Formats: sequence, structure tokens, C-alpha cells
Amino acid sequence: MLKKPQMNSLCRTLLRFWNSSIGKKLIVALTGLMLVGFLLGHMAGNLLIFQGREDLNDYAEFLHHMLHGWGIWIFRLGILGAFVLHIAATVSLVRQNRSARDTRYACDTTVQAPASSRIMIWSGLTVVAFVIFHIFHFTIRVDPALASMKDPGDPARHDVFGMVIKGFQNPAIVLFYIVAISLLCSHLSHGIASIFQTLGLRTEKTRVAIRNLAWGITILLWIGFLSIPFLVATGTLKDSGGGSAVHESSLSIPGAPASKS
Ligand code: HEM
Repeated sequence: MLKKPQMNSLCRTLLRFWNSSIGKKLIVALTGLMLVGFLLGHMAGNLLIFQGREDLNDYAEFLHHMLHGWGIWIFRLGILGAFVLHIAATVSLVRQNRSARDTRYACDTTVQAPASSRIMIWSGLTVVAFVIFHIFHFTIRVDPALASMKDPGDPARHDVFGMVIKGFQNPAIVLFYIVAISLLCSHLSHGIASIFQTLGLRTEKTRVAIRNLAWGITILLWIGFLSIPFLVATGTLKDSGGGSAVHESSLSIPGAPASKS
């Protein structure tokens, strides 16, 4: 246990760190790194939908039951903490920079910056709105039609596979996902490279490699996430019903022979 004077000095150190601009930049970079890690993991998990109902539902069941049900809450708290800190430090940095700029420039220097960096705050706000909507859509499941879906092969568990496919039957929702995830990717195309910059890893030598890596991850996430609503909306990925047959016909490719379900 820390004694009171030790606690006071720890609080002072943390406060000094938060009040410094480099401290906040480091918080933005490290929480950004955690969030990119979450996105890659979430996308990989979502892609199990192409393996069929059983694999995706097994994975969702595992997530909800790991560490006797505590695992998902530990994970949620970690992600929520990273998300809140990322936003709070960014907003504080923007305010700090604005108040430090006591003289306005005669011409707007942001004109030379790439569009993705100029709209960082707007793309970031859209991601916040998207995440809130998405949690109501697939985690809290405010739509009773989605909330009541049961896995036909194991009615004791929720049918995440059927829910995702049913959830993307509405073209307005699909459009919202396309716009929001595209803006998220615009945010990432600039944000990932900035993480390396803040951590002091972007040098003349590594600049091109980092830019390519940032774009590679961004494109991977864009295709990986949007492939699902896109293929559902076009009728290529559908719920053919059926139980827990190992490989039911979940992905129907036009022209291909129908598989058993
Ligand atoms: C089309 C792409 C996506 C699909 C199909 C999808 C699917 C899902 C599903 C099915 C769940 C609920 C899992 C469960 O409770 O069993 C979920 C939760 C979640 N998703 Fe997504 N997701 C997508 C994109 C995203 C994106 C782009 C983000 C972040 C910007 C995101 C963030 C989250 C968060 C934070 C949760 C809550 C996790 C929890 O606490 O349960 N998702 N997603």
C-alpha cells in the first residue's frame, strides 16, 4: 500500500504528465495503438462469419464466458478507458494549441495538410457516434427482433451470426456503416503514422515504410469490416437457416453449386 505522501507525489507526477503537451501526445499515441489493436482483433473475429454460424457463435460464446464471464468486462473497461483517454487528451491538446496561438495567421496553413488530417476531429466525432449506435445495435440489441435470435443448433445461446445478417438487411444502416467506417479509416490513415511520429520512430529513413504500413493497415480494416455489410446487402452472404451443421451454406457465391445446410 502507498503511504499518503507517496500518493500525493504520484498524483502530482501524473498531473504534471497530463498537463504537459508531450504527456498528452503520448497518451493519444498509446491509447490509439490499443484501439488499432482492438480493431484488428475485432475485424479478425468478425471474419469468422465466413466460416459459418457455428464458428462465429462459438467465438462470441467464448468471449462472453472467458475468465468465468469476467474477461469481457475487464476487456470492455480497458477499451472504454483507452477510448475516453484518447478523446479527452485530444480535446485538451486542441484547446491548449488554440490558446497558445495568440496571433492568428494571415493565411490558413492547414490548406497544405492532407484532407485526412484536416478532418481528424470530424472523422473522430463520427467514430464516436458510430460506436454508440453500434453498441445499441449489436451489443445492447435494442431491436427485439435481433435480441431474441437464438442459435438453431444450440437454443441456449444467442445467434450472433443470424443477428449480424439480419442487422444488415436495412440499406440505411448499411449506408451508415459504410460512411462511418470509411471516415474511421480516413482517421486511421493519418492517426497510425502520427503514433510513430509521437513515439519518435518516424525518421527520414522510416518515413516511407511507416506511411505504407499505415495505409496497409487502413485498407485491410476497410475491406475486412465493410466486406460483411456489403456482401449481406448484395445478397451474397445470407442466412440459409438450419442448425449447427459444421459448414452450412452461409456464403453463397453466384454461380457456385449450393452447399448443404
Ligand atoms: C461491419 C463491421 C462490424 C461488425 C459486423 C461488427 C460486429 C459486432 C458484433 C456482432 C458485436 C457484439 C458482439 C457480442 O456481443 O457478442 C460488436 C461489438 C462491438 N463492436 Fe463491432 N462490428 C463491426 C465494426 C466495428 C467497428 C468499426 C468498431 C469500432 C470503431 C466496433 C466496435 C465494437 C465495440 C466497441 C463493441 C462492443 C464490444 C463489447 O463490449 O461487447 N465494431 N461488433
